[in-house]
Amino acid sequence: MPDNDPQTQLVKYLTDVHSIEEQAAVQMRRAPDLVEGAFADAFRKHLGETESQEQRVRARLEAHDASPSRLKDVAGQAGGFGMVLFARSQPDTPGKLAMHAFSYEHMEVAAYELLGIAAREAGDEATSALAAAIADEEREMAGRIAAHWDDAVEQALARVEPDDLGDTLNTYLADVHALEGQSKKLLEKSREMDVPEALRAALDHHLAETEGHLEKIERRLDDRGATPSAIKDAMLRLGALNWGAFFAAQPDTPAKLSGFAYAVENLEVAAYELLLRVARRAGDEETVALTESILAEEKAAAKSVADQWPVSMSVA
Ligand SMILES: [Fe+2]
Ligand SMILES: [Fe+2]
Ligand SMILES: [Fe+2]
Repeated sequence: MPDNDPQTQLVKYLTDVHSIEEQAAVQMRRAPDLVEGAFADAFRKHLGETESQEQRVRARLEAHDASPSRLKDVAGQAGGFGMVLFARSQPDTPGKLAMHAFSYEHMEVAAYELLGIAAREAGDEATSALAAAIADEEREMAGRIAAHWDDAVEQALARVEPDDLGDTLNTYLADVHALEGQSKKLLEKSREMDVPEALRAALDHHLAETEGHLEKIERRLDDRGATPSAIKDAMLRLGALNWGAFFAAQPDTPAKLSGFAYAVENLEVAAYELLLRVARRAGDEETVALTESILAEEKAAAKSVADQWPVSMSVA
């Protein structure tokens, strides 16, 4: 059978989401230890959902006679996202965990949306319905995390002295700068790929915006008198983690690119949500206004990528 026949594609997508769930379960088991109260409960609740998702996906794989060895192979090569391990290594653990968890849920949403398209192509109604149901569960979990941005910042800043709030704000600004830099690289790299025109246009549009974001954040750091090493330090923080590997994992199809870009844009959304709250606490109105305007563009960028999922799949 050719590699791109609907049946083979469907099994590939099922195998991918299965390994995503296995990693999610590991993360959901550890996450509640890193935060407190209702925020921790949100992760506990999603562990049960995640375990059920893994079982439901496995059942669909078995319905397609996917062999257990194949399952194991793919789980091994999935490449650790290492969200929890990373968060633990950071000074601002609750914030980083919230950010990465929010992005992970969106990666799952993308994976299930793409799975649903693959299932319909292959005429598998049961998998199509399952994908829609689980995508909704992932969106709900993303919403639960978003409901805790305030808690995440509260818990992250609990040990920061009021006098140090300005420096902390600079750290958050430098962190979004490092993320924008990685995101820019990904968008540039995607220009080397053969990508459907509508997706290309969405990505190029956001590449231009991203360059603007980088400049504006740099100027803000400058105006705030941040040390020149702030940006370099943030790049080191970002590189120290499995995020380096995350960004290095180059997507090889337009569908994967669109899923990955969706996760990256939502990572930025989360980073700006946190920055916004830190800037408010520090009483820096200019940073608040700048963050609000960039945040709106990041949300629009994520949506514009999601709008292209069917197109992205057409050339998978
Ligand atoms: Fe999941
Ligand atoms: Fe999830
Ligand atoms: Fe972005």
